[in-house]
Amino acid sequence: TPPMVAVVGSVNLDLVARVERLPGAGETLTAHGVTRVPGGKGANQALAAARLGARVRLHAAVGDDPLAGEALTLLRAGGVDLRHVRITEDVPTGTAMIQVDDDGETTIVIDAGANATLTVDHDDLDADVVLTVLEVPDEAVATAMAAPGFTVLNAAPSRPVAGDVLAGVDLVCVNAAEFGALAAHADVDDLVAVAITYGEAGAELRRRGHVVATVEPPPVDAVDGTAAGDAFTAALALALATGIDDEDALRRACRAGALAATRPGAQPSLPTLQEVDVP
Ligand code: RIB
Ligand code: NA
Repeated sequence: TPPMVAVVGSVNLDLVARVERLPGAGETLTAHGVTRVPGGKGANQALAAARLGARVRLHAAVGDDPLAGEALTLLRAGGVDLRHVRITEDVPTGTAMIQVDDDGETTIVIDAGANATLTVDHDDLDADVVLTVLEVPDEAVATAMAAPGFTVLNAAPSRPVAGDVLAGVDLVCVNAAEFGALAAHADVDDLVAVAITYGEAGAELRRRGHVVATVEPPPVDAVDGTAAGDAFTAALALALATGIDDEDALRRACRAGALAATRPGAQPSLPTLQEVDVP
């Protein structure tokens, strides 16, 4: 039977502007167009895991507004269990203002909205894999990472995480900048396992400070890097939690991330098992 995944995470509606290049400070640019796309790192990883064949439950908070319905459409279509998504009065659904340039590079500014109100109960987090992100409050992150299953922290966006929380995490996933920020306040050689992504240069997996696998991703034509890290995290979490060896797991995760970067938007770009599983 496929693994059961509980995601304690964020839901955002992404407002995406396509620009030729990312603007500098004080600069005004004209976009090629603006789209509204379901996103949020937690929601993206929940849907990524579902598309990769897992049974997934999302613990999240949204506002009592029309953005919530829009943000949840693809999760619903993807079969993610949304019974633990709470509707919060008087706060808006989280939003992300995203700019994507012609090379697929992005800048993202998020407003947490309801995500900042998320609380979870330890007793509700029974699952094979428990995954969280840093777009939800410290308390929720700590509760999630104390759950009994295989725990995964995508430490994004960067912010300090308490040492006792990090010590209990089975897998941390970060990009190079986030790894730098993490190393500035925590002893990263103590982490059980940490995967670091380097964009087009691939990824590496370290266990207790030792590099155990490195992978170069397949060369792809990146159009939008949004959610590439989310696809990577979900794929790696599932692979390692189900006993796939480090090298294979990392290769599969890189393929998932690369595929997400070839398609526009967050959730619409997440790959399926068939796409990731090619030999
Ligand atoms: O990781 C990509 C996500 O980050 C976007 O979908 C946006 O909502 C932000 O949370
Ligand atoms: Na994408």
